[in-house]
Amino acid sequence: MTTTTRITDTERIEEILRLKREMNAVILAHYYQYSEIQELADFVGDSLELARKAQSTDADVIVFCGVHFMAETAKILNPDKRVLLPDLSAGCSLADSAPADKFRAFREAHPDHTVISYINCTADVKALSDIICTSSNAERMIRSVPESTPIIFAPDRNLGAYLSRKTGRDMVLWQGACIVHETFSERKIEQQMLEHPDAELIAHPECEEPLLRRAQFIGSTSALLRYTKESPVQKFIVATEAGILYQMEKASPHKTFIPALPMAENCNCNECPYMKRNTLEKLHRCMADGEPQITMDAALLERARLPLERMLALSI
Ligand code: 13P
Ligand code: SF4
Repeated sequence: MTTTTRITDTERIEEILRLKREMNAVILAHYYQYSEIQELADFVGDSLELARKAQSTDADVIVFCGVHFMAETAKILNPDKRVLLPDLSAGCSLADSAPADKFRAFREAHPDHTVISYINCTADVKALSDIICTSSNAERMIRSVPESTPIIFAPDRNLGAYLSRKTGRDMVLWQGACIVHETFSERKIEQQMLEHPDAELIAHPECEEPLLRRAQFIGSTSALLRYTKESPVQKFIVATEAGILYQMEKASPHKTFIPALPMAENCNCNECPYMKRNTLEKLHRCMADGEPQITMDAALLERARLPLERMLALSI
């Protein structure tokens, strides 16, 4: 019989910090992580900022508190570093919606198109793409392609359609979507806006078009956070994953943040079930074990790196 030692969260946090020093590790976290993980992280940011931090770090180990495609991106940009992900099954519905074999056939059916893929995709799909983008630089990536060149945008149909409207580019869209950002109820949000006439609706561009049309501000997670800090408005209805509210409330404690309501009753559907697979306990365990870590085929890594580097070179 084995005996397990129970430790408190405070002891666990101390252990994580000790292991971090011992391993010369950096802990990177996305805004959708549990607040206790965001608190512990050396850096919290959106996909682009996290990719940049991963690229520039001088730590020996990157502990990535986010989803698989984010940790995989960190590995692609740092093939010689160990990249740990507390739960390897932290996937992404959007990445899952573009299986590489189907995507290859799609690409082959449009041989003259430039492929811009949202970073929320697998390394195999990145390797089949010309340029990667995130929600904070997608418009810039699209505008970098000559007007005369047709574009495939994948895998998020909502972000793609939003960018088509914004740039006037008629792009061929892969029909993928995020389960969290398609969960919001336009009818319930309309009611929330009536109940809070002094609030602004702010939304992530992965949300569906009818909701985006009502939003007063649309942006990546970092852009949404920045907007709430800088705006004179005191109340916001926030249509994105609820984890970001932690940083919004921390940055503007005197302002009110209301999570936009999902369609289903009594559910936590505005929380990403993949992001939330990472817990303090799993973070501790992965640092103590040095596992699970991201491993990749070297040839795939090289092919996936090119479109990512193109994005980083074109970003400001
Ligand atoms: P950001 O790049 O805006 O952080 O988006 C990441 C994400 O997964 C949104 O669902
Ligand atoms: Fe993927 Fe959606 Fe979760 Fe973002 S919120 S990681 S797009 S499933």
